[in-house]
Amino acid sequence: MTLEQEILKRISPSAAEREAIDRKVRSLLDKATEEADREDMGLSVLLVGSVAKDTFLCEPDLDVFVLFPESVSRERLESVGLALGRRVLGEGEERYAEHPYIHGQWEGLEVDLVPCYRIEDTSRLRSAVDRTPFHTRYVRSHLSGDQKDEVRLLKQFAKGIGVYGAEARTQGFSGYLLELLVIRYGTFRAALEAGSAWKRGTVLDLEGIRGRKFNDPLVFHDPVDGNRNVASALSAQSLATFIYAARRYLEGPSERFFFPRRREPLELSAMRDMLVKRGTGVLVVTMERPCIIDDNLYPQVRRSLDGICALMEGHDFRVIDRAFHVAEALSFVVEVESLELPLGRHHSGPPAWVDNSYAFLERWEKEGLSRPFLENGHWAVIAPRAHTRAEELIASMLPTAALGSDLREARVLEITMGTAAISEKNRPALSALLDKRMNWEV
Ligand code: UTP
Ligand code: MN
Ligand code: MN
Repeated sequence: MTLEQEILKRISPSAAEREAIDRKVRSLLDKATEEADREDMGLSVLLVGSVAKDTFLCEPDLDVFVLFPESVSRERLESVGLALGRRVLGEGEERYAEHPYIHGQWEGLEVDLVPCYRIEDTSRLRSAVDRTPFHTRYVRSHLSGDQKDEVRLLKQFAKGIGVYGAEARTQGFSGYLLELLVIRYGTFRAALEAGSAWKRGTVLDLEGIRGRKFNDPLVFHDPVDGNRNVASALSAQSLATFIYAARRYLEGPSERFFFPRRREPLELSAMRDMLVKRGTGVLVVTMERPCIIDDNLYPQVRRSLDGICALMEGHDFRVIDRAFHVAEALSFVVEVESLELPLGRHHSGPPAWVDNSYAFLERWEKEGLSRPFLENGHWAVIAPRAHTRAEELIASMLPTAALGSDLREARVLEITMGTAAISEKNRPALSALLDKRMNWEV
């Protein structure tokens, strides 16, 4: 048996598992249909997603859409859709960044219950999810029986290397994108071969269907709506990871690409040694984690890390690497060339011939670490820094950094740097910075 056949055996549902899922799907659809009929407004219920397409891996989620007539207002679709979802799933939580839906459980399986419009064609789109029933139909009619296994392999591969899922946390490949890649290239292997030759800016389509132009790292024109990029959520980072992993896998296939080993945080002593060898320093900021969904949280965490680094750069701390870690709290880790800067810094002022140059002289004659001096016609001075220690800069200036909006009010729990930062509490965050192995190399 080849490696890929072995992997397939592990990831494909058995006959018994299929039957159990089928049973759960039927009872869920019955319940949802019953609740939809009670509204008496022409609703229908549709199974979409990987279970409808038979491309699911073990323990799939069930994606059920409730289709509303186009005449219903957007507000009514949301209120009826959410109430209906809650009735079907007992409790369930409202979960959305952009389009409302209910996430819950049904007989042990995760369920997404999503209201959308029943539209004739995708030019009549009213909400972001109205294309989904078209996606399901497209894949069902274009993916052959054998290719479902190829999709499963490609999904597990993407999962293993850490780029499966279009949500903000991952910024990776959605299930639908991987299905289209198999339709486009034929097999798992062919998709990897093609993928290993992609560049940033590669543009793909099916049947020549293309709409507007996009600037995204990878473009796959949606065959049901050429004006949409199916890969719009994919970051350059995840694209690069896929390209590199595809090349490595083709050079030397291994189970590790599909099933990486668990990554344990590095030992504190090993991390201390790495930093001593480099002669650099780390700063760790820990903040309270705001109670918002991941799709809102992760973009704000990335933005905040950028803001913290910009604040440090703006005060002459040279950032050489950075990372974040999301757990019960949020941790930001910044590696800098030096955590301490000298008190004196060069500060340039106005040219000697402008009127207000005396104001510069008056101030710096008092506060300077040197007398003001002329330099190519301009006044200059060696001025004292407001902050010489990174820790102290962050402690006093963090509120002025460009943080994500929900992080501005979050409590700062701890700011540490240098050897004090290399603590058991900070181990996962430091490891996120210092452990550069790819998933399959662990
Ligand atoms: P999923 O993320 O569940 O993907 O969304 P999938 O194809 O079923 O793959 P796996 O096997 O579960 O990982 C299913 C469909 O529902 C739509 C997506 O666009 C996707 O086509 N969907 C789901 C939304 O558009 N919004 C949601 O909030 C949830
Ligand atoms: Mn799904
Ligand atoms: Mn889902």
